[in-house]
Amino acid sequence: MDFPLYHLDFMGDRMLIAIIAILHVIINHGLAVGFIPLVTFLEFRGYQKSKESETAGKIWDETARKLMFTGFIITTTVGALTGVGIWFAASLANPASIGSLIRIFYFAWFTEWIIFVLEVVFIMIYFLTWKRSGESPQKKKKHILFGVFLSVFSWLTMAIIVGILGFMMDPGSWIENKTLFSGFANPIYFPQLIFRTPVAMMMGGCFALMVTAYILKRGNNERNSIIRHISLWILNWTPVAAIGAYIYYFFIPGLMLGNLPVALATQKFQSWYDSLLIVILVAVIVGLGVSILGAIIPKRLPKHLLFIPVIISILFMGTFERLREFVRKPYVIGNYMYANGILVEEYPLYQQSGLLKNTPYSDIEEITDENKYRAGQDIFNFTCSRCHTTHGVNSVVVKFEKMYGDSTFNTESLKTYIRNMHNVRIYMPPFPGSEKELDALAVFIKQQQVTPIPIEGPQTDGINIKEVKY
Ligand code: HEC
Repeated sequence: MDFPLYHLDFMGDRMLIAIIAILHVIINHGLAVGFIPLVTFLEFRGYQKSKESETAGKIWDETARKLMFTGFIITTTVGALTGVGIWFAASLANPASIGSLIRIFYFAWFTEWIIFVLEVVFIMIYFLTWKRSGESPQKKKKHILFGVFLSVFSWLTMAIIVGILGFMMDPGSWIENKTLFSGFANPIYFPQLIFRTPVAMMMGGCFALMVTAYILKRGNNERNSIIRHISLWILNWTPVAAIGAYIYYFFIPGLMLGNLPVALATQKFQSWYDSLLIVILVAVIVGLGVSILGAIIPKRLPKHLLFIPVIISILFMGTFERLREFVRKPYVIGNYMYANGILVEEYPLYQQSGLLKNTPYSDIEEITDENKYRAGQDIFNFTCSRCHTTHGVNSVVVKFEKMYGDSTFNTESLKTYIRNMHNVRIYMPPFPGSEKELDALAVFIKQQQVTPIPIEGPQTDGINIKEVKY
């Protein structure tokens, strides 16, 4: 336990990350990775059209520019802020794991950062020079080329991050040879990339379809043709997304189940996976339905209907990310570090000689009757608080009351449960402390039931560190 742990006792730290990260993924996939290539494609079609009819070409170009305006504003504000926000939230919620990920993927992050900076430069150039690019065909061609660069760079930032996300689910051969390459080329990398790329393209299409239907008036001559193009874009990416989903859906469980040696997990896991399948199917069917309508009868497509695919794709991405995070449990880095931030290989030491003794961030050396409650609180912080609060979201007291009723807890039953919690609920890591610490934790939970006192994290309470002995 190398870090003091920030803790939000009402909403829980997980929620903090979830809100920021899911918002970020939706913006990244829907308004950058999948959106920018489509905008560039529409601009290119406008350039081609302008050879036959200048007015038609202008309408296409102006529509593409307005779409890019939406993308530009959202990605450079909420998109960029939530991107930085993930770093803050993740370092607060699980400093040990973010520390490991920085160490292992140092050069990947570094490359990511360079690519990200270039992406920002390209997006500035692309959007801000748009109006002047109409002055001559040469300028237009150059401008379109910037759109292509921007599309490639947006995709690359995703392609790097997906390597790290895959690694967290299953580090593959990294566990043995610990090289950057083996971590990056983890077994889940390609299935995820193959799945996310077309899904992003479809999401970008859904956003573009909705915005276009609003910015072009019904009487506009090019409206139908543009809507048809965007619909065909979604339609063309749908089979690719379906193949990606198939690969993802059928590859991942086998790989993940290898991580979960307990028989009971199989059943649980299957039920999460079935909900994922339903979500994928619904999203694909809605995307397909709207884009077929848009391709066949663009004129009669009611614009308010176009909110539905956008909302569905947001819900889809949210559910997908939530499930992906969930199936990774009990680990934060598969087989290497548990979600409580403790390394698998540190467990024997902590279980034998105690967690508190081995961390600087508790001043308790020996547990006595006087300090038992405080010791229990420290143990709760180190072992449960990454996922539970005392009385807020996913409250540990409420969880136990659901099992044992609301009469005063029996500490022996609490202890028996916690000793086995990983076997009963595979997604929870095993308890990492000694018997005495387990006893203190049970006393703390029981006392919290009798007199609920929400605990503050070290950010409010400060930290007691051990006396340094020279
Ligand atoms: C990796 C995250 C994680 C950690 C760490 C964790 N839990 Fe949980 N725990 C969960 C989740 C998720 C649930 C299920 C919530 C739900 O679906 O309602 C849960 C459920 C429970 C339940 C109810 C189980 C049931 O059968 O219904 C109890 C009791 C519980 N946790 C106690 C603890 C205690 C005590 C600790 C610390 C020693 C702990 N948990 C650590 C994630 C965690």
